[in-house]
Amino acid sequence: MTLVLGIESSCDETAAALVDGTGRIVAQHIASQDEAHAPYGGVVPEIAARAHAERLGPMIAAVLDEAGIHLRQCDAIAATAGPGLIGGVMVGLVSAKALAMAAEVPLIAINHLEGHVLSARLADPALRFPYALLLVSGGHCQILRVDGVGRYRRLATTIDDALGEAFDKTAKILGLGFPGGPAVERLAAEGRADAVPLPRPLAGSREPHFSFAGLKSAVLRAHESGQYAAPDIAASFQQAAIDCLLDRLGVAFARMDDVPALVVAGGVAANKAVRAALEGFAAQRGLAFSAPPPQLCTDNAAMIAWAGIERLSLPDFRPDPLSISARPRWPLDPSAEPVRGAGVKA
Ligand code: KG4
Ligand code: ZN
Repeated sequence: MTLVLGIESSCDETAAALVDGTGRIVAQHIASQDEAHAPYGGVVPEIAARAHAERLGPMIAAVLDEAGIHLRQCDAIAATAGPGLIGGVMVGLVSAKALAMAAEVPLIAINHLEGHVLSARLADPALRFPYALLLVSGGHCQILRVDGVGRYRRLATTIDDALGEAFDKTAKILGLGFPGGPAVERLAAEGRADAVPLPRPLAGSREPHFSFAGLKSAVLRAHESGQYAAPDIAASFQQAAIDCLLDRLGVAFARMDDVPALVVAGGVAANKAVRAALEGFAAQRGLAFSAPPPQLCTDNAAMIAWAGIERLSLPDFRPDPLSISARPRWPLDPSAEPVRGAGVKA
């Protein structure tokens, strides 16, 4: 049975996991750094890198220990090699290189976004290619056509903020602390989604791209006006975000009429209202719908190990050289045209 050790350290979760060829998570550990970053209201790269460096070694040892596995029994070590905060990515990738060299096990450098893209197949083994993927995380908001492992075409991206970022900024405006997504979701459940008039940026436009900067500014203005209760602002923001997702997906699917399934992944896919709305969109169009369980939506190492397993099973699989570099930016579809405003965010 194929067995891969996965390592994730691209943002503020330190994670290690062992996953087998059937998609069973044999062991996994994950440590969030929320407390370390909370006083700053966002992830501080230097603090994140130091925390990864302190935690990762003992965490990998604990995962192997728990599974009763020696590193040499692994078929590969898969580590996130980008995109992300470069200091953290380097900690994970360099650790993986050292272990791969010492144990003489192949190294697989994984694109973090590919981890999210394929996480749906870890959770749902019946899910086949092709599928459309809505990737909604703290750093990315994209619609991808997924035709196979390594075969990704980007149809849409954000021209300014990612959706997770908009959730985090809304939380900051409303004084909900960090990380903001889950807090906004909780507060939204107590509010009225039609209470605050908010824009749906780019709705109705021809290209399926996203924009959330204007929505965030409108949230700030609504809050500063003193006219609205925080739960109503949270609920109205969440509804505006959902409306944007559905409108943009409608445009994207008009260009993918042979694609039978919609998959959502990334941290914002943990949001129940978002999941329910996407499920409704899929049902209306006769599409299959798949979403990984929330703990596989936010950053984790099982999805990185799984991406390694998917890569190992390709007929032309080659391990990556130990000279491979960590990459702060690493598009899944390098042929995709840059859009106005893109490239500002990591
Ligand atoms: O995928 P992820 O863990 O990290 C990145 O690769 O960015 O996504 C983190 C993002 C954060 O912006 C967080 O606020 C958002 O996902 N998020 C949520 C929820 N849980 C996490 N947003 C809305 N509702 C949630 N329940
Ligand atoms: Zn992520």
